[in-house]
Amino acid sequence: MTAPPLTRVIETRVIEAGATAAGAAAAAADAARTLAAGGLVAFPTETVYGLGADATSGAAVARLYEAKGRPSFNPLIAHVADTGAARALARFTPDAEQLAAAFWPGPLTLVLPRLPVCPVAELATAGLDTIAVRVPSHPLARAVLSAFGRPVVAPSANRSGHVSPTSAQHVLADLTGRIELVVDGGRTPMGLESTIVACLDGALLLRPGALPRAEIERLVALGEPPQGVTASSDADDVPIAPGQLASHYAPRARLRLDADSVDAGEALLAFGATPPRGAAGAALVLNLSPRGDLIEAAANLFSHLRALDAAGVATIAVMPVPHQGLGEAINDRLQRAAAPRP
Ligand code: TXA
Ligand code: MG
Repeated sequence: MTAPPLTRVIETRVIEAGATAAGAAAAAADAARTLAAGGLVAFPTETVYGLGADATSGAAVARLYEAKGRPSFNPLIAHVADTGAARALARFTPDAEQLAAAFWPGPLTLVLPRLPVCPVAELATAGLDTIAVRVPSHPLARAVLSAFGRPVVAPSANRSGHVSPTSAQHVLADLTGRIELVVDGGRTPMGLESTIVACLDGALLLRPGALPRAEIERLVALGEPPQGVTASSDADDVPIAPGQLASHYAPRARLRLDADSVDAGEALLAFGATPPRGAAGAALVLNLSPRGDLIEAAANLFSHLRALDAAGVATIAVMPVPHQGLGEAINDRLQRAAAPRP
């Protein structure tokens, strides 16, 4: 599988964390600095290596999708240092409280209602009203998260379509030249992704993983996943789309794609410097990237769609977005958002 070309080639540094506390602290400080500068950092967790980015920065998250070569914006898991930090992102149902108390830190991801004050970029949750949250137990992951002090989104640190990496060598084989830093902490102990449980109305197993189902069922009843729920262990390229979970963000307004003109009363989602015919009569105009930068456009995609939708227009005209690089994922999301409602 060929990943789209990168906008630039990056020098990938490797830092060996070593076995000492001082080594781990130095690696964590380097990782935190790199994340704060908008960089991409691969680090070990107890499950697999994650590819981390500052979850609160839309631009950093857009770069992450670009580095992975994902053809679509699947929602990402926000990693935090402790349950207290998770409470700033999501609302905990009683089931979620029980599971977090029993299994965090550890290989369990909870999909929860996203709080209105949640600072995670909309691109990271692909515009959904839910958010996946996890508190990893690996000492290096914990050190990175504590040093950074903000949520870190981290999909498995492999190119899209490849298997999840369990060593720094695997990460380098896939991502050299695409990310800033790899924190080498040796092999990951579990080698299998976290188990994902949605705690919304009831509890649902969305992805089997390193925490066995039976352990979870000792504490909470797991509902049967509705038809169409994927239960793949490398769900990387397969969005989880159960019936009662929104599979993707859908605006209320109709989307008119590839618009080369705007009708009076329509809202306009623009791209690039040249306004289309009729733009002056638009109810509201937001530009994904006036300078035509696809990373900036990806970072703005969901928030701009939401803002235009909130204006109450019947139709949002969308200017064409080039198909190269992140444009493929942007167009994928626009097409889904434009699809007729079931
Ligand atoms: O063990 C793991 O979970 C690793 C380590 C690095 O933490 N991470 C990982 O992330 O496996 P990733 O991106 O490869 O898989 C995350 C899965 C995807 O299938 C995604 O669709 C799903 O979680 N997901 C994320 N947010 C979701 C949400 N709000 N609703 C439903 N599914 C969600
Ligand atoms: Mg993955």
